[in-house]
Amino acid sequence: MPLNGPLHRTPGEPAVSSINPKGGPVAGPQEIVMSLKLFDTVPDFTQESTEGVINFYDWAGDDWVVLFSHPKDFTPVCTTELGSVASLKPEFEKRGVKVVGLSVDSAHSHHAWARDIAETQGAALNFPLIADDDRSVSKLLDLIHPNASDTNTVRTVLVIDGAKKLRLTLTYPASTGRNFTELLRTIDSLQLTDKYKVATPANWQQGEDVIIVPAVDDAAALALFPAGWTTVKPYLRTVKQPG
Ligand code: BEZ
Repeated sequence: MPLNGPLHRTPGEPAVSSINPKGGPVAGPQEIVMSLKLFDTVPDFTQESTEGVINFYDWAGDDWVVLFSHPKDFTPVCTTELGSVASLKPEFEKRGVKVVGLSVDSAHSHHAWARDIAETQGAALNFPLIADDDRSVSKLLDLIHPNASDTNTVRTVLVIDGAKKLRLTLTYPASTGRNFTELLRTIDSLQLTDKYKVATPANWQQGEDVIIVPAVDDAAALALFPAGWTTVKPYLRTVKQPG
């Protein structure tokens, strides 16, 4: 029985626990498979994790979240990925981003795997790993791609902003480990371009010049960027990174 909370809970609305305190079956919603698109509201859920039962909206609060899924416990690529994210946790925190992993095994299995991660990766798990053995969250967030595997989640990353909107997705096959430095770069771009009327060019890195968005004409750009910009083409204007 899925532990998912109300699917249509508005961010900020108090959680209604979907765990029956008497231990009996949960009267929860039907299993719904969502296909999440950019700027959709990511639905709420409640599920076991290595840090106890997590209600997603309460746990996230107003922070940004990276939720990343793994095919299975005790798999080699995932082991390196979890170690890598644990090492990079201060970088996510600097950006106001909480991290949560997900794998389709039990909390008991996750705890045993966490010991291997600490032993082999130079960093211990320092964020919750959702124990999605009933696959309720995986189905809710469309993390199982049946042509890849009927039962295991693919390597998906969801970047979710403080209003619970989906801002970026990445999906990799099981055989390819993700680049979490690239993920930090995309978060830098998202947070910068939320604040200023700019976009970031190919391979942009923090501190490099950015692009003035086409919706800003030269007259408006003068007010926003009084120090000037470079016009490569009328539609391609570059400017020093603001802020
Ligand atoms: C891995 O995490 O190493 C892995 C998982 C499933 C298939 C192949 C590799």
